[in-house]
Amino acid sequence: MKKRAFSGIQPTGKLHLGNYLGAIKNWVKNQERYENIYCVVNSHAITIQNNPEELKQKTFELFAMLLASGLDSNHSKLFIQSRIDYHPALAWILDCNIPMGDMNRMTQFKDKSKKNPKNINVGLFNYPALMAADILLYQSDFVPVGEDQKQHLELTRDVAIRFNEKYGECFKIPEPLIPEVGARIMSLDDPYSKMSKSNSSENGIIYMLDSKDMIIKKIKRATTDSLNEIAFDRERGGLYNLLCIYECLSNKSRSEIEKSFQGYGDLKNALAEAIFAELEPIQQEYTRLTSEGGYIHGLMTQNEEYIKDIARTTYEKAKSLVGLI
Ligand code: TRP
Repeated sequence: MKKRAFSGIQPTGKLHLGNYLGAIKNWVKNQERYENIYCVVNSHAITIQNNPEELKQKTFELFAMLLASGLDSNHSKLFIQSRIDYHPALAWILDCNIPMGDMNRMTQFKDKSKKNPKNINVGLFNYPALMAADILLYQSDFVPVGEDQKQHLELTRDVAIRFNEKYGECFKIPEPLIPEVGARIMSLDDPYSKMSKSNSSENGIIYMLDSKDMIIKKIKRATTDSLNEIAFDRERGGLYNLLCIYECLSNKSRSEIEKSFQGYGDLKNALAEAIFAELEPIQQEYTRLTSEGGYIHGLMTQNEEYIKDIARTTYEKAKSLVGLI
């Protein structure tokens, strides 16, 4: 039996190269190793997003983009979180088993609250419990996530271990799977903050649907330094980030990459080419999938019975263990 991997991705913002190289490309690459379940976590998105039409559209786009990126239904089951009611239902049971002090330590809540002081809601605080429910419902062995989700994974493991001890065996204890390369793609114009909609300006982000010209323009403008010397050196953040992106897209070792380029101009040209070569087939597939509206909607529901069965089994067990009738 294959081990099961579960991960979630939020439909906020347009999908970009940071999402793709940090998560999706690895999901696709490893999809034959595991039985994968991937969830578009739109219920998490309403902790921040409050434009209903936009949320619907983004959910649809993300779902299509994940398929276009190469997730294949033989190995990876893709579904929409809000369509399975067991997620918030299990989150409630977990809520009642997470000490306030543990939740208070979550750094992502603090960061998000600071960034958006006008909308600090209870859901945002409670976000990690819903995430734990996502993972635990499916008895997941592994959770492929970025480094920034490590603390949420620890909380998930802690609540699962505590629950099993207190009420009886119910949840499998999941392990994080954090990729070494590409886990953190930084912004092109501010290489010390992560490439993300909330941190970066438009020039700092390459979107999945950017044209070749856009990609070339953004890479040309990317921050480097004046040494014009190619080396993987973390201290030189701009250059390091470009080299890491190239590394993710090529099959070359770091030392081979360092020898491949004369200077920054040379590197930037090759990098823009490599990015477009990766994105072009995905863009074509995305266009094909979305040109017929009903097609994606059909795919959205295709895995639901399978998913619901797994979730129901875990939920009913947890419910009964805590004495809910
Ligand atoms: N919190 C994750 C993120 O922002 C998204 C997420 C929600 C998730 N539920 C999950 C990731 C379950 C892995 C497993 O990246």
